Amino acid sequence: MQVPVDEGHFFSMLIKMMNAKNTLELGVFTGYSLLTTALALPEDGRVYITAIDIDKEAYELGLEFIKNAGVGHKINFIQSDGLQALDNMMNKNPKPEFDFAFVDANKTNYADAYERLMKLVKVGGIIAFDNTLWFGFVAEEEESVPEHLRECRKALMELNEQLASDPHIEISQVSIGDGVTLCRRLV
Ligand SMILES: C[S@@+](CC[C@H](N)C(=O)[O-])C[C@H]1O[C@@H](n2cnc3c(N)ncnc32)[C@H](O)[C@@H]1O
Repeated sequence: MQVPVDEGHFFSMLIKMMNAKNTLELGVFTGYSLLTTALALPEDGRVYITAIDIDKEAYELGLEFIKNAGVGHKINFIQSDGLQALDNMMNKNPKPEFDFAFVDANKTNYADAYERLMKLVKVGGIIAFDNTLWFGFVAEEEESVPEHLRECRKALMELNEQLASDPHIEISQVSIGDGVTLCRRLV
């Protein structure tokens, strides 16, 4: 379920290079990518990460490790459906506030999350989508794809096309883990 270690290190380096201060994570599970992000962010006692997952139990399972690493105070966990939480944030504060957002939840609504995140992430900030290569199946014919993976494959292929042709962002498709697409907001 969680990102592999090299992908975690990649995000950690990226966040440090960007000097990110406000980040968002959509899809936490037990908090591995959340922990790598929290460790990469500055240490001055404030909350830096808004973390959203519909499943609080999984988050609480990993919370002990986050606390032991001394970074629990950097995280504001919101138990919610992802899109609902993004809508609430936009209603509360319509100004973009995030430097970096990592999307690793329900693959079939990445496009809906993208639409919202383009309003919540600052110009110059990065939205990173996980699993955009979908085990390599985005480059295979549908017949060779196991049935249970087809719906997400279709959604991810549509998202990849949408991102590649969107003039509001610059993208980089990184073949790490299951594929990560970095979108830098231009306007
Ligand atoms: C792949 S896991 C996240 C792994 C985590 N990013 C990591 O690398 O350690 C996906 C998570 O998305 C959550 N999720 C799925 N659908 C969701 C939704 N509609 N809203 C919020 N969270 C959702 C699941 O509960 C699960 O914990």
